[in-house]
Amino acid sequence: MIITFATQKGGTGKTTLSIAFANYLTEVTERQINVFDFDYQKSFYNKWKEDELLEIPKLYDVEVIGEEEQPFSDIESLFELRDSEDINIFDLAGTLDEKYSDLLIYSDFIIIPFEYSDVSVKSTLVFKNLLGLLESQAERIFIRSKYDKGYKYLNQQEMDEEISKYGVIIQNPVYKRNCLQTIDTRKLTYEQKYAVKKPFNEIIDQINETLQITL
Ligand SMILES: Nc1ncnc2c1ncn2[C@@H]1O[C@H](COP(=O)(O)OP(=O)(O)OP(=O)(O)O)[C@@H](O)[C@H]1O
Ligand SMILES: [Mg+2]
Repeated sequence: MIITFATQKGGTGKTTLSIAFANYLTEVTERQINVFDFDYQKSFYNKWKEDELLEIPKLYDVEVIGEEEQPFSDIESLFELRDSEDINIFDLAGTLDEKYSDLLIYSDFIIIPFEYSDVSVKSTLVFKNLLGLLESQAERIFIRSKYDKGYKYLNQQEMDEEISKYGVIIQNPVYKRNCLQTIDTRKLTYEQKYAVKKPFNEIIDQINETLQITL
């Protein structure tokens, strides 16, 4: 299967959440996890390389999909990833590019971290429209990222109503937490696990329900 973390807004937590999700999955499923860093900044890959210095075994491999490469000019290789029992996680850049089209069309799930700031709301709606234009087959999973517990977001209800027409909103937010600012690719600390457990279990339930499987 293919799970892609994407949206067209930079800095919403795609890489943080994809690292945390990949780490979390290794604790809850026997399936093999493969990560593909499809962002020219290579944040996930660079972190994973840097973490070689930690004396902890790696949990998964991370492959960079380079600028010049045409990873899916052969669409069959994309279908192979999609049809595989492995969990293939893609982390995309915050700027959209045509090279992402096939991936966005054929992912099983697109996880879209979003915030309620005016700019984030606009970008999230643009991204949701783009997926519609592409006729993406992926199930859209919206997740509140960097959510501030003590704040009343005035546009929350309106935004939730709008995006819930196009996908699933994970009810448990990922709160803004200092412990998520320093995350490595080889383990989740107790605190980090606590911060992501509820929303991630909801995502996993959603995947199981949609694909009629048990991860
Ligand atoms: N839940 C959180 N609580 C606190 N800080 C967070 C949280 N999630 C992400 N951050 C911080 O927000 C910043 C942006 O996060 P991240 O790099 O994961 O976003 P991104 O969407 O991958 O960005 P880009 O579009 O540049 O790839 C980072 O400094 C990260 O540490
Ligand atoms: Mg990123």
